[in-house]
Amino acid sequence: MPEERAGPHVALVGFMAAGKSTIGRFVANELGVPFVDTDELIVARHGPIPALFERSGEAGFREAELQAVLEALERPRCVIALGGGAVTHPPTRAALAERAVRVYLDVPAETILARLRRSPTVRPVVGREPTLERVRELMALREPLYRESELVVRGPRRSKLAYARAIVERLRGT
Ligand code: S3P
Repeated sequence: MPEERAGPHVALVGFMAAGKSTIGRFVANELGVPFVDTDELIVARHGPIPALFERSGEAGFREAELQAVLEALERPRCVIALGGGAVTHPPTRAALAERAVRVYLDVPAETILARLRRSPTVRPVVGREPTLERVRELMALREPLYRESELVVRGPRRSKLAYARAIVERLRGT
């Protein structure tokens, strides 16, 4: 539908393993617009994320992430899945605030921890053996930034497809 392509970009915000990529793909599909995962753009350009953190530190990673976000925002309307720390970098947060509708997927720390432990992806900010303490500590720091989003969706009781449909309905209502 042409009017769906003409709306604002949709950026999925939230902690690691909140389901941003899976739900983002569903939302993009429902809206009939492309899906972009900024972690994938970073890996395509710079190689694996843990190696990028080692080479350039978190600051270097956040700069690469800013470029990926700006690139996604330059594209025609799309759904963007962000990395969990994207909004901690002020220029990235400002660009998203100005140019996207942000949707925060709010998932409890216990669920996040269980998913991180099952995930094959290494996230340098929590290391290879994430603990509930570390997840809670980071969440407490990031939560206020996530809450700046235009929409907040609480998890994880419904299926990811059900979340995507609920998000699309709320987007259409805004
Ligand atoms: C990060 C989250 C990761 C990835 C990088 C840093 C973070 O993305 O961008 O490891 O700081 O929370 P996911 O949220 O997709 O795991």
